[in-house]
Amino acid sequence: MCGIVGYVGKNDALPILMAGLTSLTYRGYDSAGVAVVNGTSMHVVKCAGKVGDLAARLDGTTITGTTGIGHTRWATHGEPSDVNAHPHTDSAGDFAVVHNGIFENSNELRERLRAQGCVIRSQTDTELFAHLVALNYDGSFEAAVKAALSQVTGAFALVVASRLHPGMLIAAKLDTPPLVVGIGADELFVASDISSLLRFTKRVVILEDGEMAVLTPKNVYVDLFRAEPVIGRRRPASERVLSVDWPADIAERGGYPHFMLKEIEEQPRAIRDTLRDRLLDDGRVLLEEFALPPSVIRRARRVLFLGCGTAFHAGLVGQYLFEPVLNVPVQVEVASEFRYRQPVVGPDDLVVAISQSGETADTVSAVRGVQERGATVVAITNVVGSTLSRIADHVLLTRAGPEIAVASTKAFTAQVVANHLLLMYLAQYRPHQHDKLLYQVGQGLRQLGDAVERVLARADAIKAFAERLAEHEDVYFIGRNLDEPIAREGSLKLKEISYIHSEAYAAGELKHGTLALLSPGTPVIAIATQSEIYEKMVSNVQEVLARKAWVTGLIADDDTELRGMLADSLVVPRVNDLLAPVPNVVALQLLAYHCGVARGCDIDQPRNLAKSVTVE
Ligand code: G6P
Repeated sequence: MCGIVGYVGKNDALPILMAGLTSLTYRGYDSAGVAVVNGTSMHVVKCAGKVGDLAARLDGTTITGTTGIGHTRWATHGEPSDVNAHPHTDSAGDFAVVHNGIFENSNELRERLRAQGCVIRSQTDTELFAHLVALNYDGSFEAAVKAALSQVTGAFALVVASRLHPGMLIAAKLDTPPLVVGIGADELFVASDISSLLRFTKRVVILEDGEMAVLTPKNVYVDLFRAEPVIGRRRPASERVLSVDWPADIAERGGYPHFMLKEIEEQPRAIRDTLRDRLLDDGRVLLEEFALPPSVIRRARRVLFLGCGTAFHAGLVGQYLFEPVLNVPVQVEVASEFRYRQPVVGPDDLVVAISQSGETADTVSAVRGVQERGATVVAITNVVGSTLSRIADHVLLTRAGPEIAVASTKAFTAQVVANHLLLMYLAQYRPHQHDKLLYQVGQGLRQLGDAVERVLARADAIKAFAERLAEHEDVYFIGRNLDEPIAREGSLKLKEISYIHSEAYAAGELKHGTLALLSPGTPVIAIATQSEIYEKMVSNVQEVLARKAWVTGLIADDDTELRGMLADSLVVPRVNDLLAPVPNVVALQLLAYHCGVARGCDIDQPRNLAKSVTVE
């Protein structure tokens, strides 16, 4: 978590830093700050609140200087406050640090630094690093940062500026948090993601673990600060320059009131892009970038999905898709729990790790754990060059484009579609009885973008319903089979965006306890699009109706039974059961969005959350 930006060049740093921070706000938004170096002076301005609060704090000040760093924070060590906001400086104010991640040995460091006479002002682990640099300084900025890096443990990305060395920044990263150097004409940038750099440059170098980059306006020099590379093969920075072909405005709101709505509406394109050139006319799936050996597919005794949050729900969809078709046990695990329960995993396991960002620390750590036990890992991720994409054995990229809103929408539907592709690909190498079904799925995938467009066309009806739902404080979602993980995802979206308490249940499970919570008028959203289990679902709806709850169906457009039975229904196009999660979730995303708007919530930056969680 946290967004980092840095600039060294010929232009005034402050406007560049503020633009970068605005783009990076999704990574954390409880406090923000900048440090700008001008000659031998350094101005640090920081405060609790969002980047807008920082801009207000800067209003009327004239801070100039062509070297600077900035930060937007999601608190780990110490509450959000002015003093805990980054950048942090040493006692003399010579060095300023912005940091993403955690120094795991911070307690011991704090004691040691205090014993050495340092006055530590904040509760953060970051400030300790500024003191460490100062204590190690002997005229060489680079040597001081390198020495400080040798004294910290954990997973982190950081950038250091110094008033003793104007025109220079030092950046370093270890493990999950990403750090990208942007290369301009006589100017260099550094940031936590590529999209925040797009308006300045499309030429980037992605720093690898254990690397330290020394940035001056005309040059970036990369060195190792850990003797052993943790991942990846190293090449000189000049050979690693990537040209990014995203349009500069891809991460802009483009006239939409919120990124979330823009991203919901981008789903037909994200789905078509994820399928492009991969689904052949004859129904076969070709994954050119994907060299998973058929022998690994044939010998797999289990498929194990790993993910967190929304990506975990994509894994649950994968379970319902894969198990009956591939006739192999499928397990889905929350990455943060899986890793620490000493799981039994081995070379016959095929692990599918799902992560939009490819940087979620829990997922990355779980993947490292299964790799140590010999499993083969396929990553489904949205970010080229992310940690997960680099450590996985094979990568299936979703092509959703940058997702900025904290609540995931288009990345989820692209993950589900990637699951369909992966299922069809794996089925090509395993004996099964489902050729006809898979052919129908292939045909349906081609029409899926159109089906989503038909859901989007009904947004006004969903909005009108959302405005009534928004008055309630507890909502229940139920579904069976592939509607069950979508109940969970719909519930998560509602919580994140509208702060309405909500729970999701397998519809058959409600009667085993939670039914006790339903009273007359309690809203229940019943997702009922799975034809094989439809009548059972109708019975579950009857159980809820009998308690006089307010049941709204999420049903296919050819459904007459539930539509006749219920006062309210949200209608989605009928698609193959295996594809139904996609139109269904789009309807629930719109529902959550409009509930959040009706309740005046901060849609793109819900309280307490961050998009990319790079701490465990
Ligand atoms: C955070 C976000 C969630 C997201 C989860 C996993 O908690 O707030 O929206 O689903 O991380 O993110 P990933 O990038 O791994 O998909």
